[in-house]
Amino acid sequence: MERRTFLRAGLGGVAAAGLTAPLASGLLLADRGSTRWRIAAEPIRLSSNENPLGLSDAAREAVIASLGEANRYPGPYRQAVIDALAAKHEVRPEQIVLGAGSTEILQMAVQARGPNATVIVADPTFEDVPRYAERIGIRVEKVPLRADYSHDLERMREVAARSSGPVLVYICNPNNPTGTVTPSSEIDAWIEEAPESIQFVVDEAYYEYAADPRYRSAQRWVYTKPNVLVVRTFSKIYAMAGMRLGYAVAHSGTAEHLARWAAANNANTLALIAARASLGDREFERKSLEVNRRGREILTKCLDELGLEHLPSHTNFVMHRINGDLPTYNRRMEEHGILVGRPFPPMVTHSRVSIGLPEEMERFAETLRMFRKRGWV
Ligand SMILES: Cc1ncc(COP(=O)(O)O)c(C=O)c1O
Repeated sequence: MERRTFLRAGLGGVAAAGLTAPLASGLLLADRGSTRWRIAAEPIRLSSNENPLGLSDAAREAVIASLGEANRYPGPYRQAVIDALAAKHEVRPEQIVLGAGSTEILQMAVQARGPNATVIVADPTFEDVPRYAERIGIRVEKVPLRADYSHDLERMREVAARSSGPVLVYICNPNNPTGTVTPSSEIDAWIEEAPESIQFVVDEAYYEYAADPRYRSAQRWVYTKPNVLVVRTFSKIYAMAGMRLGYAVAHSGTAEHLARWAAANNANTLALIAARASLGDREFERKSLEVNRRGREILTKCLDELGLEHLPSHTNFVMHRINGDLPTYNRRMEEHGILVGRPFPPMVTHSRVSIGLPEEMERFAETLRMFRKRGWV
């Protein structure tokens, strides 16, 4: 039986029998008369940069074994994960802040800067930081990426220099949706001489996927610079997007300030248990990277064959050119059972496709070749 059509063992009792969940495109089904959810094989989800492997065996087993804890508040499990993260990052536990996904950390970082802040972001980049800021009336300055799709740090610096009041600079590295890296030495040079009124939020959601020699974590600054916040997630390399766990690594005073904007008990018990198990599972990390490498190879080979330019990816997705109109392309892909990324203006001549299992990428490649035959891409 195909992996995705398995009934997910251990989830019994979750669903009301016979209902179809109100989730995207009928992805989650409940069998009539059954109390189990199953994941539909279609559409293939190449839209949200998820890890297609599903939870690691260690995390899955730990979660199933701990289901009986779901009625308990997560208190005791938080500290175990914080301690494990502190050991991993070689910082003190008080330098770690947990969030319900790294998205919550980004939201907290925006709120912590206060209403008079200016938020400076690249364009395009991951939308959550500008979105959270705009929602609460904080000014956002968008600086187009350079021609090589790295952050235009020089222009971002100019914007920061002419902003009065607190500044938050969001650097997504590698960047979503382009998958490209900004050389760390350039970020370091700015951090080194920036005044403390500039808060750097360096989002490293795809850190593990980046093998570019110009790339390294900004974590080295959290020992000495209270104005640097590094953001990581369990959603990507650890395949926990649905469980919602992310974190910040920062100077202890900064971490303490940031945590004031967190909801109490924001990290749930089962996510913490899965995270603790995942952190010890180096083999799963290796497997995630290998599956990603193989899927990316299938994808880029097809794009090259069709002459569709693609950006160098240091992540689990690839931004590539399409010929024709993006909403029409997305609709046609969906009609052929494949979900691809949302539009990322101003890059409306490009589509972002996440890397799924190798067989899913073969199916995507076949579909793209067929689109070409029909003159659609
Ligand atoms: C750059 C970046 N940051 C953060 C997130 C959100 O991750 P999380 O699931 O941890 O909230 C994503 C998700 O795609 C992302 O691409």
